[in-house]
Amino acid sequence: MSSDNLMTLNLKIWRQQNSKDSGKIQDYVLEGVSPDSSFLEMLDQLNEKLIAEGIDPVSFDHDCREGICGMCSLMINGQAHGPERETTTCQLHMRKFNDGDTVVIEPFRARAFPVLKDLMVDRGAFDEIIAAGGFTNVNTGNAPDANSILIPQSDAELAMDAAACIGCGACVASCKNASAMLFVSAKVSQLALLPQGQVEADQRVQNMVAKMDELGFGNCTNEAECEASCPKGISISNIARMNRDYLSAAVKSKAEPKA
Ligand code: FES
Repeated sequence: MSSDNLMTLNLKIWRQQNSKDSGKIQDYVLEGVSPDSSFLEMLDQLNEKLIAEGIDPVSFDHDCREGICGMCSLMINGQAHGPERETTTCQLHMRKFNDGDTVVIEPFRARAFPVLKDLMVDRGAFDEIIAAGGFTNVNTGNAPDANSILIPQSDAELAMDAAACIGCGACVASCKNASAMLFVSAKVSQLALLPQGQVEADQRVQNMVAKMDELGFGNCTNEAECEASCPKGISISNIARMNRDYLSAAVKSKAEPKA
């Protein structure tokens, strides 16, 4: 590629030493950015420059860089994962930006996601919600013969769609209430839609919702920002399903005779 295509960007990046520091936006000018580089490669390029200048590099989360693990985050110009729909930060390319652009980069913000350093937040609250019920204890034995458990095609597809959630937290970061309902409902639905998930379904939904509330996530007020910002296109219909399952489980547990 000719060097004519390289861009200069004005970066405004949130810098915060630790969770106690108040933090502030710092300005950086980065020259020579290839439109073919990914957003994280652009940050790598910035960090190489900062290290060469003896400046502390910018901390940010990443792992697979393939849109699979859910580790990358970042609010880019006010949008979780940036301007491209259904795309994680690691899969976003700099060709989405123009030479001379100002790009504001901040961490995912929510009370339940405290900033650890710069652009890195602690999303351990999601792990706690999964530990509260996002699994099945049923012993399913060896792999069953194909078609020995018949599952309607529509249910199988809905379960697979819900299972696409990578737990990145964009739904929380983009919701004005910092609600985790899209994440929790996807994790509930991927099990509730399948026969193997039925055994503990009532307990699971009640435990996961209780843990979500306990950890300080807000309530859902049907803004649908979560769905719009989700890099995996998780549908808010999962929230409606979880609300129905929760209500049904709560009514059943109240109706059960006390020992
Ligand atoms: S680094 Fe794994 S999804 Fe982005």
